[in-house]
Amino acid sequence: MFDHVFRRKNLDQIARDAASGSEGHLKRTLGSIDMVALGIGAIIGTGIFAVIGTAAAGGAGHLGAGPGVSLSFIITAVACAFCAFCYAEFAALVPISGSAYTYSYATLGELVAWIIGWDLIIEYAVGNVAVAIAWAAYFHQLMDGLGMHIPAWMSVDYRSAHQAARLVAEAGGTVTPSLALAYEAWVSHPTIAGIPVILNVLAAGVVGAITWLLVIGIKESARANNVMVVLKVAILLFFIAVGAFYVKPENWSPFMPNGFAGVWTGASLIFFAFIGFDAISTASEECKNPGRDIPIGIIGSLVISTVIYIATAVVLTGMEPWYLLGVADPLADVFARAGLNWAAGIIAFGAVISMAAVLLVFQLGQPRIFFSMSRDGLLPKYFAKVHPKYQTPHITTIWTGVVVAGFAAVANINEIVELTNIGTLFAFVLVCAGVIILRRTDPDRPRVFKTPFVPWVPLAGIGMCLYLMLGLPWVTWVRFGGWLATGLVLYFAYGFWHSKLRARGKS
Ligand code: ALA
Repeated sequence: MFDHVFRRKNLDQIARDAASGSEGHLKRTLGSIDMVALGIGAIIGTGIFAVIGTAAAGGAGHLGAGPGVSLSFIITAVACAFCAFCYAEFAALVPISGSAYTYSYATLGELVAWIIGWDLIIEYAVGNVAVAIAWAAYFHQLMDGLGMHIPAWMSVDYRSAHQAARLVAEAGGTVTPSLALAYEAWVSHPTIAGIPVILNVLAAGVVGAITWLLVIGIKESARANNVMVVLKVAILLFFIAVGAFYVKPENWSPFMPNGFAGVWTGASLIFFAFIGFDAISTASEECKNPGRDIPIGIIGSLVISTVIYIATAVVLTGMEPWYLLGVADPLADVFARAGLNWAAGIIAFGAVISMAAVLLVFQLGQPRIFFSMSRDGLLPKYFAKVHPKYQTPHITTIWTGVVVAGFAAVANINEIVELTNIGTLFAFVLVCAGVIILRRTDPDRPRVFKTPFVPWVPLAGIGMCLYLMLGLPWVTWVRFGGWLATGLVLYFAYGFWHSKLRARGKS
């Protein structure tokens, strides 16, 4: 048994399996610009439009980084840069869908590959729960600005509303802006048979709409993504350019109101803003020249996003005192406070579009990972079904949609962001480790893109990811442990017995 669970898939075998799979070869149509755009499409979203507020102001058990949140961005960007090199080496070497799951099957064996595949559900599906919740907050704000008030009880979850009621009571009835929406939900919700109804219908609704789009098939999705990316970048540049005129340098001091501890936990939280550069690797099967285009896409999108993020963080923390930034829509809120409601509206619109694009990319990526796992026999064949008319993996797309929408209706965004971060950081650790291992076990394989200074760069990636993981609350570790344990039980109940590799080993 030991032998089997650590059995590795041969890289040539991986390529052969992909080529002989029922879906055949995906068409190689994407170039390096598409890859950079795909990366930015997946990266820029909730992190910069929403999570930055909690990272700066603190709350939900976190110390605020204050204006030092700019430093949090730099720390996280450095960690991601080390990992980006490792992802680029693997993606160029194994240009097959499945991302980290596929790489670990080749380097660390089947059990670790399963764990990674299971873990990637946290990055993609659970991550999307957070994105949907943040989308709902911005959409609510946008509609308010347009004079259409959506009832608060349809825009937040029950626990947030309950918590807001408690905090307002403790503060002697003072309703701060960050609690306003949740508190409104608490005092104005309807009841059915005595049960309070507070459900984030907006968040569930957007996931439902995107799932429907994905099921009926999206033609020219890369082109649509390019348009959304131009819009995202333009709106953040607009924020930086206009916001710069409203900066009051005194807001930058003290720079680290909670010392370095605040910057560190801020970095662990803000990591969410960077998740997505790795998602490019799921499209490597569709890339014209993966050896060149994927490294350019991964590293290029990371560099561009980082520069925009740091400038945004510097301007945001200069516009208002850091402790006022803990609202669901901080970038729009600072403009509203400055009396620029039109600018707040533009930002809210940009955020709604940006987050919808992130939802789309991740909601598209998740079924692809299930697909790879099903192709290897670790999940039932049922998950690899393709719709006869729309030619989309409709079963996994619908299941992903139902589960993500269900959780988005009831979950609390902060907890979800933390869980997503720990899960993704863990995947990054294994990818970095995989690069070191494969250099030893298969040193002669031609590598189109090479991570520099191996093993030091991957080791630095591992070290920094572990450091960011340690900045997350213990309860996140417990949840993550529970998730992995459930995955192990499922592996030994199903995947172990149905693995194609196992069948090959026996024959
Ligand atoms: N990086 C993506 C976002 O911030 C997940 O929305």
